[in-house]
Amino acid sequence: MLEHLKVSDFGTPKRESEQEVTLEIDGNQVTVPKGTSLMRAAVDAGIQVPKLCATDSLEPFGSCRLCLVEIDGRKGYPASCTTPAEAGMKVRTQSPKLQELRKGVMELYISDHPLDCLTCSANGNCELQDMAGVTGLRNVRYGFDGANHLKAEKDESNPYFTYDASKCIVCNRCVRACEETQGTFALTISGRGFESRVSPGMDESFMESECVSCGACVEACPTATLQEKSVIWLGQPEHSKITTCAYCGVGCGFKAEMKGNEVVRMVPWKDGAANDGHSCVKGRFAWGYATHRDRITTPMIRQKISDPWQVVSWEEAIAHAASEFKRIQAEHGRDSIGGIVSSRCTNEEGYLVQKLVRAAFGNNNVDTCARVCHSPTGYGLKQTLGESAGTQTFRSVEKSDVILVMGANPTDGHPVFASRMKKRLREGAKLIVIDPRRIDIVKSPHIKAEYHLQLRPGTNVAVVTALAHTIVTEGLLAEQYIAERCDDKSFNEWREFVSRPENSPEATEATTGVPAAELRGAARLYATGAGDGTAATSSHPNAAIYYGLGVTEHSQGSTTVMGIANLAMATGNVGREGVGVNPLRGQNNVQGSCDMGSFPHELPGYRHVSDTTVRSEFEAAWGVALQSEPGLRIPNMFDAALDGSFKGLYCEGEDIVQSDPDTQHVAHALEAMECIVVQDLFLNETAKYAHVFLPGSSFLEKDGTFTNAERRISRVRKVMPPKAKYADWEVTMLLSNALGYPMNYKHPEEIMAEIAALTPTFAGVSYQLIDKLGSVQWPCNNEAPNGTPTMHVDQFVRGKGRFIITKYVASDEKVTRKFPLLLTTGRILSQYNVGAQTRRTENNQWHSEDRLEIHPHDAEDRGIKDGDWVGIQSRAGDTVLRAVVSERMQPGVVYTTFHFPESGANVITTDNSDWATNCPEYKVTAVQVMPVTQASQWQREFSRNDLMQTRLLEQRHAGDAVTSK
Ligand code: SF4
Ligand code: SF4
Ligand code: SF4
Ligand code: FES
Repeated sequence: MLEHLKVSDFGTPKRESEQEVTLEIDGNQVTVPKGTSLMRAAVDAGIQVPKLCATDSLEPFGSCRLCLVEIDGRKGYPASCTTPAEAGMKVRTQSPKLQELRKGVMELYISDHPLDCLTCSANGNCELQDMAGVTGLRNVRYGFDGANHLKAEKDESNPYFTYDASKCIVCNRCVRACEETQGTFALTISGRGFESRVSPGMDESFMESECVSCGACVEACPTATLQEKSVIWLGQPEHSKITTCAYCGVGCGFKAEMKGNEVVRMVPWKDGAANDGHSCVKGRFAWGYATHRDRITTPMIRQKISDPWQVVSWEEAIAHAASEFKRIQAEHGRDSIGGIVSSRCTNEEGYLVQKLVRAAFGNNNVDTCARVCHSPTGYGLKQTLGESAGTQTFRSVEKSDVILVMGANPTDGHPVFASRMKKRLREGAKLIVIDPRRIDIVKSPHIKAEYHLQLRPGTNVAVVTALAHTIVTEGLLAEQYIAERCDDKSFNEWREFVSRPENSPEATEATTGVPAAELRGAARLYATGAGDGTAATSSHPNAAIYYGLGVTEHSQGSTTVMGIANLAMATGNVGREGVGVNPLRGQNNVQGSCDMGSFPHELPGYRHVSDTTVRSEFEAAWGVALQSEPGLRIPNMFDAALDGSFKGLYCEGEDIVQSDPDTQHVAHALEAMECIVVQDLFLNETAKYAHVFLPGSSFLEKDGTFTNAERRISRVRKVMPPKAKYADWEVTMLLSNALGYPMNYKHPEEIMAEIAALTPTFAGVSYQLIDKLGSVQWPCNNEAPNGTPTMHVDQFVRGKGRFIITKYVASDEKVTRKFPLLLTTGRILSQYNVGAQTRRTENNQWHSEDRLEIHPHDAEDRGIKDGDWVGIQSRAGDTVLRAVVSERMQPGVVYTTFHFPESGANVITTDNSDWATNCPEYKVTAVQVMPVTQASQWQREFSRNDLMQTRLLEQRHAGDAVTSK
């Protein structure tokens, strides 16, 4: 095997046991936990036993018979992968007889295998080839004339990998990977004996089957049978670097395998603590956007948004942006400009943007797209537990007895975590799902939720409070835990409040749509691990809550987060493994961008700008006076722009036109500004309103760190030079310097050192530590030098846990005769957020347009059939999508995704928002749905504007810089 691609493989999974056994292997004494296989024990003793069907990410199968060993006192030649080590065993892994047997096995394999090693895409990285060498096989006696599979057809249907049946040795690793690692059960071995072959679904192609293209089978395959197409095209990689996925908040570690500056493949990193070697279709395969022809790699400027773009040098673009920002501030005041940084950017980039705004702009007008997703998490968890972050590691779910998933769709939004969770559910943990839609995890192979509380959108608080009512009034509280760890006064007030009859499941049933008996059952299960509450008085089981944007993106998003924290405290489910309150973060660095002080009211580490002590620390370090009043949030920036007091915006990596609610309102606000600077990979929807375009850099082109939903800080490593010369952090520095506030970091490592020096929870974080540990979970400081996997262990960060009263207030967004349905939105596995990245990959083959899901009754009432074009009208606007008639919906509720700009999902969403944080209420919009025959007026205008901006881009030319106004 190519040396640099080698990954240590212990053959079988690690076993945990308090008992150890000592045995002798080839004369070496070795001690291993009870239950460890002989194969793994041998690797521990430094001895590799030949193998093909075994790999340490999968349970042993014992089919290839290559790993045979001899054991003193035992007859025959047992397979070392399936034989557990026992105390006192004497094992031999090498002998003339074993060599002969292994050679015979290999001869059979090779006799039905093409002898095309030299031209095979896996040449040099193939376990079959390695084993032929290890066993000393030099020729095959049987010839190739008899029955064989050498002409078996290839399945090329998946855009990212091929299945070449002629090379399959039927080792079953792919089938087990699909079952054990991914949990999809898409593959089987069809046929028997000689006829047996791997088959997706019922003899379907990979694309027709249930396969979700996670790549686990490709990773597990020891031959070139399942092979990445990129490897077939580009050949075996030459070098590699460990980095972190730039898509969702799971934060999977990857090995970027390269040839020169070209990515050959992204291999999930076995030692990645968030993913343990697993991946999903996005991180594993959808990286082609980074080199897509739509990338804009030259800076551009223009005076008006109806002008063609002018290509200019970096110096000209930066000087123009700086002079415009200065002019605007001189004319309209210090607070007339601001900055927005995407939660897709690195921690170091986020930190620099907020520093630029506070130190160079001189105000606090900085915000991030976390505003529109998880800002209620930050607020709600800080109020109750004392820290604005999730409490656990992902691995913690392996110790959960009950898992409550609320307003999250992990199999689509957080797929690698979903696989981990599904594994635990298959082992017997119980599942409660609270979601308006029947999402996949409610019922999937070998998994069935005990309860699916299919609530009406917008009634989360009523449901959470009714769960609390049941727990309190049925005596299911963790009294001792509460007495020891929680604040008495707030607890007593909360207990009195939730006990009120109006908060009972029966009283709220009409509002929530959740049958009272179901809700009571779910509450008992969460609190006690048993549906009838029988375990109430004994020890509490581990119950964990995982939630997503279906909780936060509501007018009472923060209230629901606090209600969730109340539930966890009331049942003693915070502060150890297997429990906790776990926000599933949408984008890769939502946690990090919040940690870095990207909100207008907080400096890094969630410290309020009005705190004089904290502010003076930053003032001393940065050498400037800082404002003590919070700045503008994103929606306030739009309102101020329309009022004429906000005129300039620096927007790094964020597409506010597509991702923020009420698109037309956003567009009008942008049109009212005088200088919009967009820094991005592509001319996104926001860039169509921009006056300066600064090319961005992809995660492959820069160094930095991302912080995932577990507070885990992982390295992003540059594997190729920036396509447009600069990494994003360097561009922010250039702009700051041009504005007269010097920034001179040589490497993002220096930025992290500054973050650590100024942020108590990051005090111990350094690139050196991350390199040493692989990743580190904050808080990381003197008290926790290697980070903190589980939070609030002995006491809550705020001291005593605080219960908060969660009064249900119905959304202003009401159904009426005119708007009788409720629209809710979400994601799909193959696309990501506004789709700017995934739409520029083959992932479109799974999902090429946003569609409207509607219940058969609602469809029939309106004469809508599957695939029909339907108009969706709300109080904010209207758009047209194709309908999918589906029983996943409940009557009265419709659903769509928001990955394609032309869909205009956010044309319909209103500007209602969370009372505490302004997080938009994306999940509740009253709409009417009707069959139509043409696109909506907004869509027609969108097409015209899109065409115009594409032409203006095509007409771009080099020339003299546009002079400032
Ligand atoms: S790609 Fe993933 S889902 Fe598809 S068959 Fe392989 S393991 Fe199963
Ligand atoms: S496709 Fe690969 S992993 Fe699956 S049985 Fe064949 S050789 Fe084994
Ligand atoms: S689960 Fe998330 S982080 Fe992991 S590979 Fe998929 S998109 Fe990337
Ligand atoms: S590796 Fe043990 S039987 Fe295949």
